[in-house]
Amino acid sequence: MFKKGMKIGILTAGGDCPGLNAAIRGVGKTALLEYGMRVFGFASGFSGMIENDYKEFSESQLSGILTVGGTILGTSREKPFKNNEKALEKGVLTKPEKIIENYRSLELDCLVCIGGNGTMKTASLLSAEGLNVVGIPKTIDNDVWGTDITFGFDSALNIATEAIDRLHSTANSHKRTMVIEVMGHHAGWLALYAGIAGGGDVILIPEIPYDEGKVITYLKKRHAAKKPYSIVVVAEGIKTDGKRSAARYIGDIINSNTDSETRETILGYVQRGGTPSPMDRILATRFGAYATEIIAREDFGKMVALKGSTLTTIPLEDAGSQSRLVEVFNPLVKKARFMGTSFGD
Ligand code: F6P
Repeated sequence: MFKKGMKIGILTAGGDCPGLNAAIRGVGKTALLEYGMRVFGFASGFSGMIENDYKEFSESQLSGILTVGGTILGTSREKPFKNNEKALEKGVLTKPEKIIENYRSLELDCLVCIGGNGTMKTASLLSAEGLNVVGIPKTIDNDVWGTDITFGFDSALNIATEAIDRLHSTANSHKRTMVIEVMGHHAGWLALYAGIAGGGDVILIPEIPYDEGKVITYLKKRHAAKKPYSIVVVAEGIKTDGKRSAARYIGDIINSNTDSETRETILGYVQRGGTPSPMDRILATRFGAYATEIIAREDFGKMVALKGSTLTTIPLEDAGSQSRLVEVFNPLVKKARFMGTSFGD
């Protein structure tokens, strides 16, 4: 049995990614159709909760959004537990206090926060303040602690892999070294997976410190072995001089230390745009529907997660405590090394 007429809020926070609308739809349609709940969407991440900027969803407003990129709610990088000094000085409500007030005045039974690491941290702090909160993990970085995968990652991986595929032919025509930079400040999952799927010769990720000399020696060996071109995949967060992008930094080093002409490509925000892949639509739908199921059971303070092929939950506090990074002994890294891929170390 579940409580009748529950009212739930929903927001999307942090950097966007493909699949957010599929998750909103998964939560909302399950809530409206299966459990008879009322659903309130808050605009622009936690800013909407602070400003009390929301609208109630009907079922028809959640139709036609499954395949649409971005988020119909909008998003922001607002971190409500930060920068409250002025409010404290003035003796007015802080941002968390405003959120709690708005949650209570709308008589919400739960707030669903869809986001990455930062969002799970905020969600766990709001939960500690006494709100009923449920988290849903998303990000193209795939670095949310406690889940094997986040939605958004598969779509970004498809985009990055297609870009690398396209570089092979032009690299071959000109006998060039192509450096391609994909997103990932702290986590190298996207560079690792796209690098392997796209046949990258060198893959540089933040978790594996690289040696410039070893990258050069490796590329020279390929050249000496008459390999016509090379593909170097780098994550944006690898160590650089802090002045140039990762791709430009590595490209300049290769240009000045080898005879191979080098070109750089920075994929940037294309990786976060556009329609979600079928896998992301399915994962976001599963996460969304499951989040509503646990709300109906009043199992709050949790983030929904995928372990193997099973949906489960982990405490929000754990999810928000750290990022999931590529382990140095990751089996995929090991397999790639067997096949001659260089990680620059
Ligand atoms: O968190 C996802 C992510 O796409 C990172 O890979 C990237 O570094 C960052 O967001 C960029 O964020 P913003 O939208 O704030 O520029």
